[in-house]
Amino acid sequence: MKILLSVGLTLIALLVLCLIFIYSGWYNVSANEQENGIMKWVLNTTKDRSIESRLKGITVPDLNNLSMINEGFKHYNEMCVSCHGAPGLEETEVSVGLNPTAPYLVKVAKEIDPKELFWITKNGIKMTGMPAWGKTHSDEKIWDIVAFVKKLPDMTFEEYQKMESPSGTMEDDEKHPDENEPQTHSHSVEEHHH
Ligand code: HEC
Repeated sequence: MKILLSVGLTLIALLVLCLIFIYSGWYNVSANEQENGIMKWVLNTTKDRSIESRLKGITVPDLNNLSMINEGFKHYNEMCVSCHGAPGLEETEVSVGLNPTAPYLVKVAKEIDPKELFWITKNGIKMTGMPAWGKTHSDEKIWDIVAFVKKLPDMTFEEYQKMESPSGTMEDDEKHPDENEPQTHSHSVEEHHH
């Protein structure tokens, strides 16, 4: 009986301490302060384990498909650059103030499992700036983005810039442009006729 009583009292004391911590305003939510110590460990471990345990059942399509990569580029360039940067653009006005920081995917994407890239891009990460793109994009589009992100680490600034130009797409080095691919150049010529 005595043991139960002391366990109960300890739990109540812990609860009171938690409530004091929450209501006192002691914890600083400012994004200027980096998380460290035990709080950092708790948050990171919770996140890592949460993601790892949700990757089962995801099947990875062929990520070398050029039309997927080109489609993925458009989305990346529109939706991800402000936080994650691009070749030659490691920091932006948004990314500098983010806490937790948005990893520079040009550097880290190589090491991330495609299933994890897919899950994170689709579902986002709660209480960070990382949105759930699956609310507005089909799984197919998310895979296009993943296919592009996987190519990011091997891209130069010039190659990225070229893709940004209106007719720019990533080209297959082994294939000549007049093989297989339908010719789209004629459009731009026709557009000038009035
Ligand atoms: C508003 C800012 C913001 C935008 C826009 C954004 N992200 Fe993120 N993203 C983050 C932040 C912040 C994190 C880090 C979260 C954390 O540390 O838990 C993150 C994490 C990630 C990660 C995990 C990286 C790692 O090393 O584990 C991936 C992958 C990712 N984002 C992909 C994308 C893609 C793809 C897009 C565009 C479709 C995108 N993000 C758009 C803020 C953003």
